[in-house]
Amino acid sequence: MQYRTPSRLGRPLSVIGQGCWQIGADWGDVSEDSANAVLDAALEAGVTFFDTADVYGDGRSERLVGQLRQRAAGSAGPSAPLFVATKASRRADPFAPESFTEENLRGWVERSRQNLATDTLDLVQLHCPPPAIYRDDQVFDVLDALVEEKKIAAWGVSVETCEEALISLEREHLASIQIILNPFRLKPLDEVVPQAREKGVAIIARVPLASGLLTGKFSPSTTFADNDHRHFNRGGEAFDQGETFSGVDYEIGLQAVARLEQALDGVMPLPEASLRWIIAQDGVTAAIPGASSATQAQRNAAAGSEPTAEQQAVLETFDAAVRETYDELLREAIHPRW
Ligand SMILES: NC(=O)c1ccc[n+]([C@@H]2O[C@H](COP(=O)([O-])OP(=O)(O)OC[C@H]3O[C@@H](n4cnc5c(N)ncnc54)[C@H](OP(=O)(O)O)[C@@H]3O)[C@@H](O)[C@H]2O)c1
Repeated sequence: MQYRTPSRLGRPLSVIGQGCWQIGADWGDVSEDSANAVLDAALEAGVTFFDTADVYGDGRSERLVGQLRQRAAGSAGPSAPLFVATKASRRADPFAPESFTEENLRGWVERSRQNLATDTLDLVQLHCPPPAIYRDDQVFDVLDALVEEKKIAAWGVSVETCEEALISLEREHLASIQIILNPFRLKPLDEVVPQAREKGVAIIARVPLASGLLTGKFSPSTTFADNDHRHFNRGGEAFDQGETFSGVDYEIGLQAVARLEQALDGVMPLPEASLRWIIAQDGVTAAIPGASSATQAQRNAAAGSEPTAEQQAVLETFDAAVRETYDELLREAIHPRW
């Protein structure tokens, strides 16, 4: 596993982090045993960065990650200290800017400190707040105060659009940007990632496998459980459409996957190529794939090793296929929107 230390965070993060939405909710039922198996497998494979949120399973995901931290502290321990990023702001009406009061912000952070059983949260990210919030100085003053009080070590934003990321980059104390970035979502590479790199702001690439589409395991006849967002949010019915399959139309996504697999010609599995390609982008700190099993978590973590010369050659061919496929099948629908 490789580790990177963006200057505004000042802490090392494994280049493959573990996305922890799955172990909360919205991906069908996940038992506590299999959630813990995912977390333990990631940790054993060198993952030290875990991304959760106060709303994933209404705190369940945070609590399980908090217990993992305690298990890790009691063992021989990973090669770098665990880094847990959480998110706040969607417990209130997420579309109402008036929810972002000092009292609410402090209350959300307090609850996460309890769930994660820690005095100081490593990183709190605003969780895709309403667009007006990005320009609301009072919200960021409260976050700065929480840093001063050592309730949080740093704050960042998890954004839907590149525009929101660019507005956030104007803030001096911004430590990280979480954004959808994968072979189906290239726009952050235009301006957001270069500016973040220049300022030492971490780039956390979420939805790196386009909700599983970029594993190549889906077909036109694949079905998803009723309580899986890949069933209920395809048209953005419950939350931003971009969070499900990266906003790509399912059938077009399958065509794009077929092209990428053809370019790889069986020499590297598509999920591995996708993850390696993301973390190879200059300025990206980490990718945070979610996983529904320990095996997936292990395989994803393996993509965080230093690439060999052969793997680098494969990634160059893959990069050309990614850009061509994006231009021909995806750019028109994706680029103007996110
Ligand atoms: N607004 C936000 O801030 C926000 C929004 C979305 C996500 N996130 C964060 O980003 C993380 C990652 O995004 P995501 O989980 O939505 O999407 P993702 O990582 O693109 O896709 C995860 C899904 O891909 C499949 N998968 C993963 N590894 C696999 C492997 N090696 N082989 C086969 N299939 C594999 C699994 O599907 P199956 O379940 O079908 O097995 C898994 O549930 C989340 O967990 C969360 O921490 C944040």
